[in-house]
Amino acid sequence: MSHLFPTYARWDVTPVKAKGAYLTAKDGKEYLDFTSGISVCNLGHTPDNVKKAVEKQLEKFWHTSNLFQIELQENVAKQLTDASGLDLVFFSNSGAEANEAAIKLARKSTGRTKIITFIDSFHGRTFATMAATGQDKIKTGFGPMLESFEYVRMNDIKALKAALDSNTAAVMFEVIQGEGGINSGDTDFLLEVEKLAHANGSLVIIDEIQTGIGRTGKAFAFQHIGLDPDIISVAKGIANGFPLGAIVGKAALADAFSAGSHGSTFGGNPVALAAAEETLNTIFNDSFLAEVSAKGDKLNGLLTEALSNVDFVKQLKGKGLMVGIELTKEAGPFVAKAREQGLLILTAGTHVLRLLPPLNVTDEEIEKAVDTIATVLQEKAVQQDS
Ligand SMILES: Cc1ncc(COP(=O)(O)O)c(C=O)c1O
Repeated sequence: MSHLFPTYARWDVTPVKAKGAYLTAKDGKEYLDFTSGISVCNLGHTPDNVKKAVEKQLEKFWHTSNLFQIELQENVAKQLTDASGLDLVFFSNSGAEANEAAIKLARKSTGRTKIITFIDSFHGRTFATMAATGQDKIKTGFGPMLESFEYVRMNDIKALKAALDSNTAAVMFEVIQGEGGINSGDTDFLLEVEKLAHANGSLVIIDEIQTGIGRTGKAFAFQHIGLDPDIISVAKGIANGFPLGAIVGKAALADAFSAGSHGSTFGGNPVALAAAEETLNTIFNDSFLAEVSAKGDKLNGLLTEALSNVDFVKQLKGKGLMVGIELTKEAGPFVAKAREQGLLILTAGTHVLRLLPPLNVTDEEIEKAVDTIATVLQEKAVQQDS
């Protein structure tokens, strides 16, 4: 009997070893992993350079506290500000905590309370981030929710205009919704959202937790559109699997986060930061990011070809190596079937297969994954089950 709360519908796979894009289970079965720990192990599993950086830090010290000058925090903050064009960083341990910090900062700096978010968004599981999330299923049984959140449909500018008022602290969104189904905001819509929010004295918060750290072929997804956010939140891939989150914001917000206003015991842990410094050093590099885009194009092209005769494939979605295959059937059974065949993939929402391979995936691994997906989607037995 398990001694864990059953919060996860866990797969029957017990990892014992993982390297690059491959994961080995206790029963000896080897899997090609196109989940990357849900967009976390962006350099693949246990990359040597990150391992070395972590080992080096373990020899020095693991934790002091945020009462000290932590050089690694300054180094990683510089990497994040250089790559984003923003100015200041607060470190947390997770994505939800980063979004909590963003929401607190928006409220305090504007003196307003309302946060507008999008339907089908996902921002986390804490009380503020659960309230921010535009999906009822995340909230069931946990009410009452934190007040002052309002939800509008992505790409509906009329609804956004109607929701914006003099009490709106921020509009907060993912450029591509990850958990909600790989749904992209239209360029014109997102630019208009930013214009209207700023004209209204409201901040723009972009949740880059799933889309950031190179996943879409740029350091951050907002850069494809040329948006000018006031705050971005990051986590997941920032330290290739070590727990770390961050917000990166404009210098004008500094006063609202004065000493004693916000904090975290573990936030900005030196071991996680050593992993982050090495990870960002590799990923925030133009030729690495160009390769991510090229690999994304290859994956997309091969999927388009291989799935052209599958009539229940509705469309391919996403950008770079964040890929959704939208089906007219439930996606879950196909994920299970792919796993049986040695390929790990995810769902996004109910009808989308989500592929999040490591950003340094090889052409051969892409070809192998596409072959398996094509086989699985063409199998009659699964089609009947779903
Ligand atoms: C877009 C987005 N925001 C926030 C979160 C929450 O991050 P965490 O699970 O690290 O709290 C996630 C996690 O899936 C996410 O995808």
